[in-house]
Amino acid sequence: MNDMTPTREQREASLEGMGCKRKRVEDARFTQGKGNYVDDLKLPGMLHGDFVRSPHAHARVKSINTEEALKVPGVLAVITAETLKTVNLAWMPTLAGDVQMVLADGKVLFQNQEVAFVVATDRYAADDGINKVVVEYEPLPVVIDPFKAMDKDAPVLREDLAGKTTGAHGPRKHHNHIFEWTVGDKDLTDAAFRKADVTIKEMISYHRTHPSPLETCQCVCSFDKIRGELTIWGTFQAPHVIRTVVALIAKLPEQKIHVISPDVGGGFGNKVGAYPGYICAAVATIVTGKPVKWVEDRIENLTATSFARDYHMTTEIAATKDGKVTGLRVHVLADHGAFDACADPSKWPAGFFNIVTGSYDFPTAHLAVDGIYTNKAPGGVAYRCSFRVTEAAYCIERGMDILAQKLGMDPAELRLKNFVRKEQFPYHSALGWEYDSGDYHTAMKKMMDTVDYAGLRKQQAAQREAFKRGETREIMGLGVSFFTEIVGAGPSKNCDILGIAMFDSCEIRLHPTGAGIARVGTKSTGQGHETTWAQIIATEIGIPADNIMVEEGNTDTAPYGLGTYGSRSLPVAGAAIAMAARKIKAKAQMIAAYKLEVHEGDLEWDIDGFRVKGLPEKTMSMKDICWAAYNSVPPGMEPGLEAVSYYDPPNMTYPFGAYICVMTIDVDTGVYKIKRFYALDDCGTRINPMIIEGQVHGGLTEAFAIAMGQEIRYDPEGNVVTGSFMDFFMPTAVETPHWETDFTVTPSPHHPIGAKGVGESPNVGGVPAFSNAVNDAFSFLGSTHIQMPHDYWRNWKAAKSLGVFAA
Ligand code: CDP
Repeated sequence: MNDMTPTREQREASLEGMGCKRKRVEDARFTQGKGNYVDDLKLPGMLHGDFVRSPHAHARVKSINTEEALKVPGVLAVITAETLKTVNLAWMPTLAGDVQMVLADGKVLFQNQEVAFVVATDRYAADDGINKVVVEYEPLPVVIDPFKAMDKDAPVLREDLAGKTTGAHGPRKHHNHIFEWTVGDKDLTDAAFRKADVTIKEMISYHRTHPSPLETCQCVCSFDKIRGELTIWGTFQAPHVIRTVVALIAKLPEQKIHVISPDVGGGFGNKVGAYPGYICAAVATIVTGKPVKWVEDRIENLTATSFARDYHMTTEIAATKDGKVTGLRVHVLADHGAFDACADPSKWPAGFFNIVTGSYDFPTAHLAVDGIYTNKAPGGVAYRCSFRVTEAAYCIERGMDILAQKLGMDPAELRLKNFVRKEQFPYHSALGWEYDSGDYHTAMKKMMDTVDYAGLRKQQAAQREAFKRGETREIMGLGVSFFTEIVGAGPSKNCDILGIAMFDSCEIRLHPTGAGIARVGTKSTGQGHETTWAQIIATEIGIPADNIMVEEGNTDTAPYGLGTYGSRSLPVAGAAIAMAARKIKAKAQMIAAYKLEVHEGDLEWDIDGFRVKGLPEKTMSMKDICWAAYNSVPPGMEPGLEAVSYYDPPNMTYPFGAYICVMTIDVDTGVYKIKRFYALDDCGTRINPMIIEGQVHGGLTEAFAIAMGQEIRYDPEGNVVTGSFMDFFMPTAVETPHWETDFTVTPSPHHPIGAKGVGESPNVGGVPAFSNAVNDAFSFLGSTHIQMPHDYWRNWKAAKSLGVFAA
């Protein structure tokens, strides 16, 4: 070896493979304003569509008069439900097995529901046209409170379902009932409660919120009449599914539909489903023969396309007097709004909420979820969440704190006592999941040691004494949260969307010079897939990550995939990438053996190529193998070096984490200060630690927003009172706390590279940490549970109700 020969470490480092803090390649364009988003697209002759929306939450639509609107200069067409009926598109199927009005058909069911679609030469003309459409409404009684939706005399919301006693998920008990979903052993659980020394029962609400990505939902549809082809550029997290849905409902041949997701500015679950805007723009391009753009504004996004959460969870835990949990019973009232448009895998009406036993070894549990209709926007999307996992984690993590309070035990100690132990994995939970791997005690203890948990509790005790003596008006809370996530939907045995199994895919094609392209069925909405997918390939086949171009989001070129949401990209597509790379490596080994004139079995892998066992100087690099693949392959072998993998995971992956929030609250003003926030995540094998940290920072910021103020709130008449960023809490760098991040590594035993997802974890674990901190602070004043969100006003009100102000 001469001085110029790179060392093994240098060769490895030059690949920038797994474990490397590789800089995000996509940022070169994003930071220079050179991204290419839907609204950047300007096609010749392009028209613009915009919606007339309902001011009422529930009303009969008596008439729609479009005469004056059509006289507005630039307005070319006004589409109503009557127009859509001529092409059988007045209603569309939802991902949850329900149907949804595309445009108001006889009545409206939530404020800002789409009533008519005005198509004009520009956005301003379309807006002018909207103001000239005259709609006559007859207001009807409104149901906003989910607890009143199933009253005997509650107004009938879905007249289209009259007489239907069965829905997509079984029997319906009431005219506003959608489904009941039960899991677990009821009798055994009831028995555990009868025998318990201690029980708790609390109604824990997770309020309605919204993913609010910075780029709203939008599309451009362009129909080529000559070819009979429809091209849709859109903000889609799952472009292939959109193509299939369009083929099914518009009855167009699937090969004639081209769906392209260009750069997407955040998804967080908001961009998984299909919205009326897409259907109307597609119909409008077919009718007018011109491309049609639809771009939602902020108010429309917050009030009409998707909400998240709105789960009201009556939570009961049974335990022994020394703090061993013996049973969990949860009933959820799930408010789905006007249509059941939840974006869950088909067979899971409440998503994966049955992960609600969390990280604890519950011998038995029972869960019942009732889905109901109200006069609110549809959605129920997985906002930075793997299908209702955030709700589940919040439910159990608040429940454990409430139990600790009742037992007079420290919340961390109670958790340590009840964790699933390392040797119990793979662990079968009482509600039916098989957790793949975990080491909860190590993670929890690392968190406690790092933050000096014992010291913090002493500080809190001292602060409480000072408060009692009247020396301070601040109370201090420690919010512990330990979550288990379930990500990577999912195995075809139990996960599908509209009957399509939730696999994912990758196609890798290597070029003669040792470079290549990887096309993947996922679609990054900011997670840095172009960076990390190349890192997996770099480590697997020894081609530098810089030499691999990653392409996603074009249904014509990418293999069929189910898209990006619920932290499924790495668990499913990441596995497909590794498997495709391994197929390439297997062929490369045959080529190397032929060229080196040895038997394949005599070769061993060495970072970026093969070498002959025992003869380290006899090597062939992957770069050289790429050339040979196009020039001199073994006789009988096809030339070229490419492979495709469709990966159907055998199980989900179960990331976990230990978080703690240290907070003080001024009881006179309700103003809180986040003193410290520490987040330890275990997502198995880590591909890019820098991107993971970014994911955790972003997710924690969303968790902070949700727990401390973000809410979609309605007044009793069904008006949305938080419909803009003036009222809907969207934290900026000014409000956002400082995050401390940490990790442990417990690989997934079934994933080809041992990786688990991470994108959702900080939202899942963060919200309970914040809420537990607030509740821990107030607990010493005698409170058990204060509902989120914990903004200044509500904190002040909580303090007031606990009698901390002198009369
Ligand atoms: O589905 P989504 O991309 O939102 O979530 P994910 O699978 O959790 O991945 C988010 C980003 O974090 C991707 O760029 C992953 O490659 C990266 N990641 C990682 O580097 N290592 C992990 N163990 C998990 C995720």
